[in-house]
Amino acid sequence: MSKSGADIGFLLKKATAFARQHKKMEAEALFLEVLEVDPDNFQAKKGLEALVSLSIPQWHFDMLADENRNFAFQRAIEKFVSNDSNVLDLGTGSSLLALMAARAGAKSVLGCEVNPDIAQVAQKVVVMNGYHDRVNIVGKHSNQIEMGVDFEEKFDVILAEVLDTGGLGEGVLPSLRHATEHLAKPNAIILPSGISLNAVLVEAKRLQKVNPIHEISGFDLSAFQDFSMSDTYKPINLKDEPHEKLSDVFPLRTYDFRNLPAEIPFDNPEVESYKVKCTASGQLQAVAFWFDMHMGDEASYSSGPDGELVHWQQAVYFFEKPIDIKKGQQVDLQALFSDELIRFRLT
Ligand SMILES: C[S@@+](CC[C@H](N)C(=O)[O-])C[C@H]1O[C@@H](n2cnc3c(N)ncnc32)[C@H](O)[C@@H]1O
Repeated sequence: MSKSGADIGFLLKKATAFARQHKKMEAEALFLEVLEVDPDNFQAKKGLEALVSLSIPQWHFDMLADENRNFAFQRAIEKFVSNDSNVLDLGTGSSLLALMAARAGAKSVLGCEVNPDIAQVAQKVVVMNGYHDRVNIVGKHSNQIEMGVDFEEKFDVILAEVLDTGGLGEGVLPSLRHATEHLAKPNAIILPSGISLNAVLVEAKRLQKVNPIHEISGFDLSAFQDFSMSDTYKPINLKDEPHEKLSDVFPLRTYDFRNLPAEIPFDNPEVESYKVKCTASGQLQAVAFWFDMHMGDEASYSSGPDGELVHWQQAVYFFEKPIDIKKGQQVDLQALFSDELIRFRLT
């Protein structure tokens, strides 16, 4: 039975509503249904195009605009990649670092990207830039790539820009553990070669109202807390957020990606204790932390509030109950480290 204009209108409305709710598969099925009966339907074509962006986290754009980040990788790649190098770009995204490795002369480059929509576009980017003779993209998680299927020879260099604001949240430790054990040659170069985490105690009054959310304009909004990611850090640019520093910056810990620690599960974290001296009086509400990214013996780059890597911002972990502290007082802080998450407690 053929569909009338009214049917098509209804399908388009429904598809658009699904798209707004980020229900990609449902929206896609309806847009395709419209195109089956009306192959030139403009709204359905545009709707399908727009769906692609739903599966792409929009921070990719901000990340690609971070020239210091890009340049830090370019410098290191130009230093460590040679004509003999087989390079794995673990988490290739747009394929930017894979292309840098090819431009630096790499013999072969494999970019792997877990998001199939991104992988498809990355392959297109590689072709558009004329590097498809040496750069291959696979739409797989790095744990699933196989020698003899996806690549022929183990890798000399692994690029792993899979760092979130807190450093570990995108799974850099488990991904690199697998890659160094199964995909890389012994003593392969890993970039970044490691990260050092630094922290500072802060008062951030404006945000305390929503961490956890309680009274707003005289109303109890605490039920809204269900929508908040609790017991985790939030990416915040401290330069834009009014706050007071209540301590000096102190080191949390360093990870050497060439000498990875054993797996630390979420439910059995490693606990480290810190005695932090308060340099100002105030309400201790949060710990802000960030990473310095090391590139072998190259310079290090910082995602700190005064650092070069701007797109990451800083990771801010709010305590459930803030405490009043006095200048000169010592605070006993614990950090709970697991493979992909860092949390804090006051003891
Ligand atoms: C932070 S982005 C960086 C993209 C690119 N490397 C760059 O520097 O411009 C990380 C990308 O890696 C992908 N990813 C993260 N872990 C991965 C893994 N273990 N295997 C494959 N892709 C991964 C994510 O989907 C994301 O697109």
